[in-house]
Amino acid sequence: MEPSGLPPLLFESSRPGRASSVIAPCESGETPIESLIPAEFLADALPPLPEIDELSVVRHYVRLSQLNFAIDKNFYPLGSCTMKYNPKRNERIASLPGFAQVHPQQDAETIQGLLQILFELQNDLAEIAGLHAVSLQPAAGAHGELTALLVAAAHFRSLGQNRQNVLVPDSAHGTNPSSAHIAGFETVTVKSGPDGLVDLEDLKAKLDENTAVFMITNPNTAGLFDRQIGEISKMLRAKGALMYLDGANMNAILGVVRPGDMGADLMHYNPHKTFSGPHGGGGPGAGPIAVRDHLAKFLPAPIVIRRADGTYALDDDRPDSIGRVRATFGNVGVLVRAWAYIRSQGPDGLRHVSEMAVLNANYILAKLKDVYPVPMGDRCMHEFVASARAMSRETGVRAMDIAKRLLDYGYHAPTVYFPLIIAEALMIEPTETESKQTLDGFIDAMRAIAAEPAELVHSAPLTTPVDRPDEVRAAKHPVLRWQST
Ligand SMILES: Cc1ncc(COP(=O)(O)O)c(C=O)c1O
Repeated sequence: MEPSGLPPLLFESSRPGRASSVIAPCESGETPIESLIPAEFLADALPPLPEIDELSVVRHYVRLSQLNFAIDKNFYPLGSCTMKYNPKRNERIASLPGFAQVHPQQDAETIQGLLQILFELQNDLAEIAGLHAVSLQPAAGAHGELTALLVAAAHFRSLGQNRQNVLVPDSAHGTNPSSAHIAGFETVTVKSGPDGLVDLEDLKAKLDENTAVFMITNPNTAGLFDRQIGEISKMLRAKGALMYLDGANMNAILGVVRPGDMGADLMHYNPHKTFSGPHGGGGPGAGPIAVRDHLAKFLPAPIVIRRADGTYALDDDRPDSIGRVRATFGNVGVLVRAWAYIRSQGPDGLRHVSEMAVLNANYILAKLKDVYPVPMGDRCMHEFVASARAMSRETGVRAMDIAKRLLDYGYHAPTVYFPLIIAEALMIEPTETESKQTLDGFIDAMRAIAAEPAELVHSAPLTTPVDRPDEVRAAKHPVLRWQST
């Protein structure tokens, strides 16, 4: 270990000639592996990999995993990310060889069980959405947004309409305007009112026959349910525009209200937030989309279908489809976890998930709002946004300082400075999987921090292996690759 508490890189621990394990040479008579590989694919020299023994590698990664913060270690109230506990049972199911080791190009007749699961998942997601058809192909929430907007573009092309605008509220996640731009639309921002909901007057002023889609997140990123949604749906329909519901916050409304019933024509799911998929780390994700019946023919191909004889197949014969957005049929491991989660919860269980997520968030809000004011709404859905604005004016302690100090108390920080419509935002999302004891511990920590001397909070974190990195420099000059000196 370095004095900083950080282990050296594997490259730095490398010593010439050290090896992980010795593999016995081939028995005489066996074909040496090199002779099976065409010469042009054989490297002249070994790549510059660290030379290191197996035990050191194991220790290295175990140590790193212990330094890291994880939901399996402690409370992770990172707003907008739904860091719920992912049941280990789902991991076991997803790693069964029949799911984890099939080849994507395998004949459909040999993967009937997997196709059945994907078919059932399509149906479950359609039912939860209150919409008609589902594509499991997109590889992330943002990719789902893009795919759905391409479906919307195909729809308007089929009507002979050249609508150019996508309307997005100023509280939206940044992926919404980005997806609209990549799909070839112009983005028009719609203001939020002082209550954090869509400003209907501003929407009315910007909505016209050139509007293709209005993208709304409901509940929105301030943790508020926009109860004007019925009115908004009517306004859109009158102009022939489609409603896209960003379903990243479905964890708040499962089994309570359905996007289709709110008037949505298209939506995406974030299975890593709602249905216990693994989060981030750059790994494969999924962002299934659901659409209303008249848009179904444009969905990416293939779709999993059940034939009349009860067997399952991949339907590629979809002439109006926008085409594939992903190789084969999506990131199956994530989808299997989503299926396992939905099936193990059942309809009542899913509703209970959302009820508890909302209850937990409201409990923290009620216990903290006298110290950390919540500018928009006295009640919230699955998350809320407190503001450290008054505190920063009085004591100089900012949202980032509070976030860093929480690490010393053993909690992951909330999301800070998002959404942009709330100054000094601290966005807190506890999820349904936390106990009252955990919530109380977090509330005590937040209240204790508010009473601490500003200099102490400014200097946090004091107990982590890395103190405060220069975040601006890290963002502007990322060093992503090790290089020998
Ligand atoms: C409201 C909202 N929309 C879209 C996304 C994008 O999802 P993904 O990160 O899977 O691309 C997120 C991500 O957290 C989100 O919170």
